[in-house]
Amino acid sequence: MSFDFTSVTDRSKSNAEKYTLRKTLFQTEDVLPMWVADMDIETPECVVEAVKRRAAHPVYGYEEVPNSAYEAQIAWVKKRFNHEIKREWMFYSHSVVATINTAIHAFTKPGDKIIVQTPIYPPFLKNVTRNAREVLRNPLLRSDSGEYRFDFENLRAQIDEKTKLLLLCSPHNPVGRVWRREELEELAAICVEHNIKVVADEIHSDLVYAPHVHTPFASLSDEVADLTLTAIGPGKTFNTAGLAISTVVIKDEQMRHDFDDAYERIHFAQGNVFAHAGFEAVYREGEPWLEALLVHLQANIDKLSALAKRHSDKIRFIPPEGTYLAWLDCSGLGLSSRELRRFFIEDAALGLSPGISFGKEGKNYMRLNFAVPTPTMDDAIAQLDMALSDFDEY
Ligand SMILES: Cc1ncc(COP(=O)(O)O)c(C=O)c1O
Repeated sequence: MSFDFTSVTDRSKSNAEKYTLRKTLFQTEDVLPMWVADMDIETPECVVEAVKRRAAHPVYGYEEVPNSAYEAQIAWVKKRFNHEIKREWMFYSHSVVATINTAIHAFTKPGDKIIVQTPIYPPFLKNVTRNAREVLRNPLLRSDSGEYRFDFENLRAQIDEKTKLLLLCSPHNPVGRVWRREELEELAAICVEHNIKVVADEIHSDLVYAPHVHTPFASLSDEVADLTLTAIGPGKTFNTAGLAISTVVIKDEQMRHDFDDAYERIHFAQGNVFAHAGFEAVYREGEPWLEALLVHLQANIDKLSALAKRHSDKIRFIPPEGTYLAWLDCSGLGLSSRELRRFFIEDAALGLSPGISFGKEGKNYMRLNFAVPTPTMDDAIAQLDMALSDFDEY
């Protein structure tokens, strides 16, 4: 089966946030938008066809996610991660960010401490502070070669009786780590010892490059599963963020009850007829497309690596192990955060996410979303190549 990752689809007139917010974020329309984490690649045809079939039935009343869709997702998780989940552990959620918020309400109270490992996808920090909980910040350690890992020593030193929850991002946005089993086991041992619950945001878990392997946190042991809520879904993998559907998996009965209670209080729990159709289609038919996508994304990573090599004094790039997000270390440019933003917008005409928005550890970084078709990637590389070459002349 072959799939097309070379055609560019115009999204500028389809209400795509990546485009509509360009002026607000970058003060110009004249940038290639490579910021928010969705793809400029068409959602697979199996989803489009499933949504069209559902649209052809002219009643769009209340609907539940069908059991057959959950069965397809259960089979997917078993096949790809050798991990077993059960139907009764699964809830619908329209958004992983909403899931994290709900979990904070369900499992902690105001004043409790929640562990967040920076640099991190911004809602992790905001969800904690906006809900009047305290962030226990455990920045990731970065080795000289640029690899990130957990800081177990710092974490152990900071945990106290008010520490109730850890927000895990696995694979990690923005640094692209796919946490190894041993790393997760050490983290889990700390959580078990201190009775800290874990929200494992595994929304990027299908986007992993060989030889790296995603280990579901809840698969480590029954004991670990009993303190874990896992968030998974097709949003990143199959570019269905606009369908607004994801899954919450909770094995422990009490945690399930508490989560359900918090979720029902806000009454999020109503689905979307088109999302249900698309959701089932990806887990039944989407695998060949995903395998082809990963090859395409790897080619884009290779292009970024070659670019970073040509400008190694200015940009450092450790290829991500997972996600379609490149975490570019721009310290070699010697610019402030503000100047760095300006350089990318004005000199390279690229709209990226500033590293500083992921926490102060991201100060010298920019995050580039490379889930784009080949011509867009080539344009981005050419623009950045030229801007970096010209930089020497300043
Ligand atoms: C780690 C992570 N979690 C959650 C989300 C957003 O998920 P949702 O759109 O389902 O709220 C993103 C989007 O970039 C993400 O990177």
